[in-house]
Amino acid sequence: MSIEFIKEIKQLKKEKNAIILGHNYMDYGVQLVSDFTGDSYDLAVKAMKTNADIIVFAGVYFMAEQAAALNPEKLVLSPDPNAGCTLSDSLDVETLKEFKKMYPKAPVVLYINTSIAAKAMADYIVTSSTAVKVVSSLDDDVILFGPDANLANYVQRKTGKNIVKVPPNGRCLVHASYTRQLVDVARKKYQGALLMAHPESPLEILEASDFVGSTNQMIDFARKSPLKEFIVATEIGMINALQINVPEKKFYPLVTTETCSCARCPYMAMVTLRKIRDSLMEGKHIVKVDPEVAERAKRAFENTMKILE
Ligand code: 13P
Ligand code: SF4
Repeated sequence: MSIEFIKEIKQLKKEKNAIILGHNYMDYGVQLVSDFTGDSYDLAVKAMKTNADIIVFAGVYFMAEQAAALNPEKLVLSPDPNAGCTLSDSLDVETLKEFKKMYPKAPVVLYINTSIAAKAMADYIVTSSTAVKVVSSLDDDVILFGPDANLANYVQRKTGKNIVKVPPNGRCLVHASYTRQLVDVARKKYQGALLMAHPESPLEILEASDFVGSTNQMIDFARKSPLKEFIVATEIGMINALQINVPEKKFYPLVTTETCSCARCPYMAMVTLRKIRDSLMEGKHIVKVDPEVAERAKRAFENTMKILE
């Protein structure tokens, strides 16, 4: 059945001059039909560079929305617009306005896991691979940062800046469930393996890790490391991306679907091969962003790109 979908999807992509951008957490089959797989930053940049007429975003909705804001002239499709994100849902525009009033001089640095309306109020849009670099490049000491409290703690630790969390307790339902005890169990089980953790994890996990980085940075780290085995503290779909990109090494998830309901992001899991096929076939669901909002969000993303140049 999956094979049939894969064939149909490949054919439809050709007919319609479409590409599929797939996040590293996607199911194996979805990664196979994707023209590019990557982390949030990488995929946003890929969206800006493509000559395709249609971009199907195989990821959660805020990612498709970001691609649409960066590419107003292209048709961006979301296979399932209900694929949300607990982080994105945790920051509303009213809360952001209140914090901006309280800290009128502080730059607003928002994680890409936010709604486009919130992004339009930001000075910089960052990802897990860019947050530390962007914040440390700013002259200001007080920074409004949201919505992930764990990433905020990590950025504060790395930059020494006064990071004000907006909202105070935004969390990803996957990474926030990790505990030190889980790390101890995995370390015992997979002795000699290195621990890689996503910065959305609690600080106690990051401190116990051998490497902290975005999903793409994990692939890079594993590829370049002289070691052969890795424990992976992030969403379980990442094991697919690691095995596809670094097939000669071994990867063990910190938690599996048997040991924790937190292993799989329920939103990422909503994006299936069938929905991608339907999306291409029926031209749905078109991601629409108000042009003014898109323009402001784009500026905030470009401010980040300038720092990274
Ligand atoms: P990356 O940018 O590291 O791929 O992370 C995206 C995300 O949603 C993590 O949960
Ligand atoms: Fe959002 Fe967490 Fe799912 Fe990533 S893993 S999309 S941060 S809920």
